[in-house]
Amino acid sequence: MKIPMVNLKLEYEFLKDRILEEVENVLESTAFIKGNSIKEFDRSVEDFLKVKHHIACGNGTDALQIALMSLGVKPGDEIITTPFTFIATAEVIALLKAKPAFVDIDPDTFLIDTDKIEEAITEKTFTILPVHLFGQMADMDAIMQIAKKHDLKVVEDTAQAFGATQNGKIAGTIGDVGTISYFPSKNLGAYGDAGGIITNNEELSKQIEMVANHGQRRKYEHHLIGVNSRMDTIQAAILNVKIKYINEWLKKRNEAGNLYKKYLDPSIKTPTTLNGNFHTYHQFTIRIKNRDKLKKYLADKGISSAIYYPIPLNEQKVFENKFDNNKTPNSNKVAKEVLSLPISHFISENEIREVAEAVNSFI
Ligand SMILES: Cc1ncc(COP(=O)(O)O)c(C=O)c1O
Repeated sequence: MKIPMVNLKLEYEFLKDRILEEVENVLESTAFIKGNSIKEFDRSVEDFLKVKHHIACGNGTDALQIALMSLGVKPGDEIITTPFTFIATAEVIALLKAKPAFVDIDPDTFLIDTDKIEEAITEKTFTILPVHLFGQMADMDAIMQIAKKHDLKVVEDTAQAFGATQNGKIAGTIGDVGTISYFPSKNLGAYGDAGGIITNNEELSKQIEMVANHGQRRKYEHHLIGVNSRMDTIQAAILNVKIKYINEWLKKRNEAGNLYKKYLDPSIKTPTTLNGNFHTYHQFTIRIKNRDKLKKYLADKGISSAIYYPIPLNEQKVFENKFDNNKTPNSNKVAKEVLSLPISHFISENEIREVAEAVNSFI
């Protein structure tokens, strides 16, 4: 049996009639930008995440950029974040002429090591930008305490953890701003690029709306230099169909992660869930010495796997000689060992057992 990383085809088959109907409604309405489906989706996310404002935008990378611009980041500001993430997190910092200050991760959870944040704070530090990686939240109690003590803003990169919780609090809603990606393979995915920004701060939400829409408050009244980042109405219409299932799907992802833990040999290093976290397993990532050989072994059996991430951001060519690589030994090490196994809300127990048995037979 062939097992893909994410089975988007099965999801589409399940939703096809409803999706086509909603897309057709948008086409008939011709309201391709800022149509009614956008408002409907904003309100649905606000209800689901129990947050006051959701502003739909073009993608999760823009969401980060807009969040930082709306908070007033300046050239030279330092932003504390993790090097073990997708490039977007640090890319937008660099684009805004600010500087990423990379803090190492806990190798068991892959999340920023909050014990190391304070030593990275300088008089130039503006924001802490934790990434809720692979579907679970970084330690927000610790992060908010440090932010309060040093008067820093907090932006939560929630691209990979839509709907994840920590002691009942919801990812993206604890700091000043949360940013979301609705990239197709995410927990809640569109059929193209899409993103969102969430905040409980009314004034900030107005700023975010302006920045995301050419800095305009009203049509052709521009108050600041912004960007053009609006979610397509068609994507919002698709997401409106999908969000009705998200609760059920997040539970399925959590179950899938637990099934992997049940079927994988106990000697295999599976991801640790932080205390109090509901893990949404955007990825199920193991650590293993002969990672590349295992990847090939699985591929020969028709099982897909992926390496998130093979090169930590501090070691990327684009940041060459900008960082002291000795400061992030855990990120550097796990990048050589990680392998993400197939997972989605449509994966079956049989598929999980088959993948786990293949991994077990390899070791
Ligand atoms: C942690 C993280 N941040 C930001 C992004 C950017 O999101 P998008 O691809 O929607 O621009 C991603 C996308 O994979 C991500 O994983």
